[in-house]
Amino acid sequence: MSKILAVHASPRGDRSHSRRLAEVFLAALQARRPQAQLTRREVGRALIPPVNEAFVAAAFYPEPNARPLSMQADLALSDELVNELLGHDLLVISTPMHNFSVPSGLKAWIDQIVRVGLTFDHTLDNGVAQYQPLVRGKKALIITSRGGFGFGPGGELESMNHADTLLRTVLGFIGITDVTVVAAEGEESADRTFDVSAAEAEERLRALAGEF
Ligand SMILES: Cc1cc2nc3c(=O)[nH]c(=O)nc-3n(C[C@H](O)[C@H](O)[C@H](O)COP(=O)(O)O)c2cc1C
Repeated sequence: MSKILAVHASPRGDRSHSRRLAEVFLAALQARRPQAQLTRREVGRALIPPVNEAFVAAAFYPEPNARPLSMQADLALSDELVNELLGHDLLVISTPMHNFSVPSGLKAWIDQIVRVGLTFDHTLDNGVAQYQPLVRGKKALIITSRGGFGFGPGGELESMNHADTLLRTVLGFIGITDVTVVAAEGEESADRTFDVSAAEAEERLRALAGEF
C-alpha cells in the first residue's frame, strides 16, 4: 500500500490520543516504506459541512453528466473528497468515540464520500433497491481512543459501540471490506487502564505497519 490517506477526526490537537496513536502507525509505516505517499485530511478541527437540501438535489440529480453549474458547485467539496479517497489505497482514520459513535466531523465526511454513481450504485430488482459498492482494492485502518472500557469484541459494552459498526458498515457499503480496528480504551479511568491499553495499541500498530 503506497498511497495513504489519513483522516483525523478528533476535535483535540496535541492532546488527542487517537492522533498520537495514528502518528505511531504512520511513522512506523513510513520508516518501512519511505516512498509511500501520505495525504492528510482534517475533519475534526476543520468544518466539513453537513449534507443539506442542495447537496441531496445535486447528488441525486437524474442526469449526473448534465448537472447545472450551480449543482456542480454544490458537490464540489464532495467531489474533491471522493476523488481523494479513490486516489489512495490505504485509508487510516483516527477518531475518538463520541457519544457511542464518531464525532460529527467524521460523520459529515462520511456523508460527503458516500456518493451514488461514484462510490456506490443502486439498481432495481422487481422494484426493490439493490446496492452495489464501486470502490475496489482498498484497505482501512481505524485507530480509535475511548474514555470507557469494554467496547471491543466480546467486551461488556460491545453492544453500545456504534462507532466501529458504523465505520465498518459504511466502508463495506462502498466496497472497503478489509477494515482493521485498533483501540485504546479507558482514558477516563483513574488507574493505569489506559496506559496499558494504549501501550498494547501502539505495539499492534507497529506490527501492522509491517503488514500493510
Ligand atoms: C463529546 C464527547 C463524547 C464522548 N463520548 C464517549 C463515549 O460515548 N464513550 C467513551 O468511551 N468515551 C467517550 N468520550 C471520551 C473520549 O472517547 C476519550 O476522551 C478519547 O480518548 C478522546 O480521544 P482523543 O484524545 O483522540 O480526542 C467522549 C468525549 C467527548 C469529548
